[in-house]
Amino acid sequence: MEVFTDKHLMREWSRRVRQAGETVALVPTMGALHEGHLRLVELASAEADRVVVSIYVNPTQFDRAEDLAKYPRTLHTDLKALEGTSCKAVFAPTEMYLPGSATWVTVEGLTDHLCGLTRPGHFRGVTTIVSKFLHVVEPDVAIFGNKDYQQRRVLEQMVRDQDFPIRVVAAPTVRERDGLAMSSRNARLPPEARQRAVAIPRALEAAKDSYDGGERRVGALLGPVRTALEAAGATIDYVEIADDATLAPLPDEARITTPAVLAIAAFFGGVRLIDNVALYG
Ligand code: PAJ
Repeated sequence: MEVFTDKHLMREWSRRVRQAGETVALVPTMGALHEGHLRLVELASAEADRVVVSIYVNPTQFDRAEDLAKYPRTLHTDLKALEGTSCKAVFAPTEMYLPGSATWVTVEGLTDHLCGLTRPGHFRGVTTIVSKFLHVVEPDVAIFGNKDYQQRRVLEQMVRDQDFPIRVVAAPTVRERDGLAMSSRNARLPPEARQRAVAIPRALEAAKDSYDGGERRVGALLGPVRTALEAAGATIDYVEIADDATLAPLPDEARITTPAVLAIAAFFGGVRLIDNVALYG
């Protein structure tokens, strides 16, 4: 496994691989790798001949300075974890933005809702950094997890609108045994908050069961989710059922008639967690 910190050396490697007739898959990450990330790597290796993992804590996507400062940085252990996978190259730049950098990539519409509302500037940071990674690595395929559902959708839109010659592959959410979605942020949960956080997947599962049982009223589906999260001591950022095409939340009075997604963002012990479930069919 090769490790690059330099953009030009990374691009050279990728071009060499592709000139030799092999395909490249990129898995962008911010490190603090967990089983969920490693599953993305395995999925990537089924999609292309060589897998590149990028590790970079992107400052421009953090809306709270404190969150950026506290984001776990574990490069040494991350590299060790990747040694045991089919990852062939790691791109771990120390800096991605040139001094005086003044160009942003923004996706409109899909970013007007959910995390786009409560984390101003977040998606602009994500789309800008991922477009830079796509230019550096020039992969054939890029893999994104459905845990960050809105992010995956926004990046698909960017790839399409900006004519990146890249296929985007969505990966299913990987969960802990009790159902909590794996996240680098889970490591920051105090133990008692970690226990309470299981309310998120449980509430999602209950809502999905209710939907599968025929409930289509948005308010009737969301009410128990909000109650369960509050009972677990969460501070709710948002709990919404969004139209899957636009990600615009449906009002409580509405009924679900087209594919939708139930999305949660909530703080447990000061740590912001997100999760979602598809409501289709
Ligand atoms: P990060 O949170 O490190 O996540 C990297 C990738 O792993 C994302 O595509 C994310 O959706 C996926 N992922 C994280 N937890 C997952 C889980 N439990 N199951 C499945 N996939 C999971 O997302 C980012 O970094 C950044 O915003 C990034 C795209 C790298 C841009 O900086």
